[in-house]
Amino acid sequence: MGSMTGAAGETRTAADGRRWRLRLARPTDARGLARLFADVRAEGRWLLTPSSAVSEPSEAFFIGEMIRGGGGLALVAEADGEVVGNVLVSLERGAVGSHVGTLSIVVDREWRDVGIGSEMVRAAQDWCREGGLAKLALSVFPDNDRAVAVYEHAGFEREGLRRRQYRVDGEFRDELLMAWFPDGGRRDA
Ligand SMILES: CC(C)(COP(=O)(O)OP(=O)(O)OC[C@H]1O[C@@H](n2cnc3c(N)ncnc32)[C@H](O)[C@@H]1OP(=O)(O)O)[C@@H](O)C(=O)NCCC(=O)NCCS
Repeated sequence: MGSMTGAAGETRTAADGRRWRLRLARPTDARGLARLFADVRAEGRWLLTPSSAVSEPSEAFFIGEMIRGGGGLALVAEADGEVVGNVLVSLERGAVGSHVGTLSIVVDREWRDVGIGSEMVRAAQDWCREGGLAKLALSVFPDNDRAVAVYEHAGFEREGLRRRQYRVDGEFRDELLMAWFPDGGRRDA
């Protein structure tokens, strides 16, 4: 676990002076997280799964189970008692992929561009390094300029572009694959 990111977290100051905390997710965060995901999905631009595909109560149940189950990393950004951000690292199952973590991240729209996403990515990278993972992977819509900027600043590299990988509301969308390697990605590792 990242040394700065424990169960209680510590107070941090956003770029605009507002206070927030980064801490481990708890099962009781499930409803707040489901709400956050629903809000971000409703924006319709950033996430793959459309709002219509997910019901908030069933997602809350699923998230609660995931947090209880442990395994990967689930961190919450909290401000004014609300969940305003989340980063997940899920682990591949099975021997051949168990060295890979997959990152996903969202920040509430009122809390974007003040550094929270970047700090959460950094915490996820610390966790991967400390846990001995060999690769942290993600996928993103290539026109999500802000997300791509955050990942590139954090040291992620572009692995490839899967063209027309999805069709959203009748329109083809490409998928950009990115990855970060805790050891720098040595080819002989
Ligand atoms: C993507 C996301 C997680 C980033 O978190 P954040 O807290 O907003 O990001 P930060 O404030 O840490 O950093 C934003 C960076 O992007 C840059 N940026 C913002 N808008 C940009 C744009 N249109 N083009 C390029 N860079 C941009 C900022 O300048 C900043 O860079 P800096 O660190 O050099 O100042 C967050 O905006 C979000 O949840 N977006 C909607 C959901 C989403 O896209 N999730 C990722 C799906 S793969």
